[in-house]
Amino acid sequence: MSDARLGLNIDHVATVRNARGENYPSPLRAALDAEKFGVDGITAHLREDRRHIRDEDIKDLSDNLSIPLNLEMAPTQEMLEIALRHKPNACCIVPEKREEVTTEGGIDTLKNFETLKRFTTEIKNVGTRVSLFIDADQLHIDKSFEIGADIIEIHTGSYCKLIESDDPNASKQLEKIILAIEYASKIGLEVHAGHGITFQSIKPLANLKLIKEFNIGHFLISESIYIGLENAIGKMKSLIKES
Ligand code: PXP
Repeated sequence: MSDARLGLNIDHVATVRNARGENYPSPLRAALDAEKFGVDGITAHLREDRRHIRDEDIKDLSDNLSIPLNLEMAPTQEMLEIALRHKPNACCIVPEKREEVTTEGGIDTLKNFETLKRFTTEIKNVGTRVSLFIDADQLHIDKSFEIGADIIEIHTGSYCKLIESDDPNASKQLEKIILAIEYASKIGLEVHAGHGITFQSIKPLANLKLIKEFNIGHFLISESIYIGLENAIGKMKSLIKES
């Protein structure tokens, strides 16, 4: 049995809203519903180009949620100021490229070491936990620890893609994730995981037990078109629990 938390990423409610320039569907309404349906937290990525979540969404979520808000952000001065203003429960620092469709990989903790260290210190000083979104790699885990992060979130995108397509390389990739999370937990980092997770890929990941939180967005919002948000969340929570 896994007692990992489920965080719902609500970016794609905003994607649908913005596609027509209307004020519906509302990310806040979806988040409040999700709270009722039992998610443990809400994640929202305020991208530099504001392609989905906007500044006012972060304000609405901060003002109205009773469950923790995890703000995903690129390591830019603008985002740092927003984080310090809203003081969410956690900030997950992610790499961002304008041309990408979604976050393609983990952050380079070597190249961004000094910036990440400064951001982590400033964000932790206002009582917000800091998470770094990294690939399953010992070097990035060590650097995350040196930077002072509380949490690492492992990018599960490539593993999830492999398992969805029944690729035999999936087990090799899972092995890499296992080594990474065992090492990170041993040195005292809390481990989260996210990206590309579906009903199929959650089970082997939740089975690993050391992952304390899953942040899942695109699949759950998509699935709610067919079975509703309540059922999509309920099913994902059951799959986590029974692993
Ligand atoms: N965690 C992080 C750090 C992410 O960048 C994303 C995508 O925004 C997710 C989790 C959720 O990924 P998905 O939408 O594929 O479930």
